[in-house]
Amino acid sequence: MNYDTRYPSVADLKKLAKKRIPNFAFDYVDGGIDDEHGKRKNREAWHKVEITPRYLKDVTDADTTTRIFGYDYALPIGVPPIGLGNMMWPGAEIALAKAAQKHNVPYILSTFSTTKLEDIAQAAPDVCWFQLYVPQKVEVMKHLLGRVKEAGYKTLVITLDIPVGAKRNRELKNGLKLPFSLTPRIIWQSMIHPTWAMQTLAHGQPDFVNVLQYKDGPNFELATFITNFAMNGVTRERIEMIRSMWDGPLILKGVQFDQDFRDALDIGIDGVVISNHGGRQLDAAPASADTLRTLPAEIGAKMTVMVDSGIRTGMDVVRARALGAKMTFSGRSFFWGMGGMGAAGAEQVIEIYRDEISRTLKQIGCGSYLEMDKTWLK
Ligand SMILES: Cc1cc2nc3c(=O)[nH]c(=O)nc-3n(C[C@H](O)[C@H](O)[C@H](O)COP(=O)(O)O)c2cc1C
Repeated sequence: MNYDTRYPSVADLKKLAKKRIPNFAFDYVDGGIDDEHGKRKNREAWHKVEITPRYLKDVTDADTTTRIFGYDYALPIGVPPIGLGNMMWPGAEIALAKAAQKHNVPYILSTFSTTKLEDIAQAAPDVCWFQLYVPQKVEVMKHLLGRVKEAGYKTLVITLDIPVGAKRNRELKNGLKLPFSLTPRIIWQSMIHPTWAMQTLAHGQPDFVNVLQYKDGPNFELATFITNFAMNGVTRERIEMIRSMWDGPLILKGVQFDQDFRDALDIGIDGVVISNHGGRQLDAAPASADTLRTLPAEIGAKMTVMVDSGIRTGMDVVRARALGAKMTFSGRSFFWGMGGMGAAGAEQVIEIYRDEISRTLKQIGCGSYLEMDKTWLK
């Protein structure tokens, strides 16, 4: 196996991350909204997808590649956009981007990343996508998109599901702000995690380096900054404007409502990431596996369908394919890997997924990820 078998699963990496990094950083990644039922529901919904194995065939090799937007990726799992990624582990974003390039999986950089978009494009020239929180001001949007294009990104992902800043109770209790407010709680948690603290000191405090130039006010609470910067509800007109400016693949992330999918098709969107933001925005939102299962048939036929929220194992990735997705993403898997193992966590997570996806395909008698379809559900 090409990974450290002391931590053979994403669940093990989560436990390790909890020990190695301060609580405020762990809570930032792990937390959901309200009583966090939506987060649990995401997991439960994947567990409910049953796959019937087929044994009377010889599947000694399983092809894990997937083809989207005319490009072959080695695995159907990628890194979704995660704001403030370097807080989990200093240098996490660049380490993940390099690992994604090496192993040929997609890496989506968040507008609110803590590494410059130009540096990520250099580290992952073939596999980097850019995620846009649509800025309220059109001139800011045009400026940002100009930089994204100039840096070489070809695929753009627009996130729709933050019309309002989320009230995440763990973040509020931890007093999470940028720059960090040096409250006794934050100082104490940093002191009892000296490796993280030393690395953070060496790298400098994480900051929203891609959008700093557009911010007003010196000190801000995360949710407030995000809602002040981004549009409160992205309109169809704005998406049409972006469509007319962006000639590469354009993807909407966070779509859940049938009519929204149809509008996306109508606007000429190339793909969707079905997502409820990992249960971080609306506790009552349907689980992603359920939205995928009930997707209108014409959407699956005409667009590239991808999914995230609650994916933690290679088995889940295969389940997603049986429900119709061609690519999956998992935010917490990758960032628990980083919190647990530092830079080495990036390849650890990729290799765990590679092993689990390949074994699952062989176990169910399917020689290729792309060959899989809904008939395996029965
Ligand atoms: C800590 C954290 C930060 C996130 N930041 C962003 C972001 O900046 N942009 C975005 O579109 N989604 C963001 N998301 C949502 C992820 O892209 C993805 O949809 C989610 O992590 C999937 O759920 P999972 O973590 O259960 O796999 C974030 C998620 C987490 C956990």
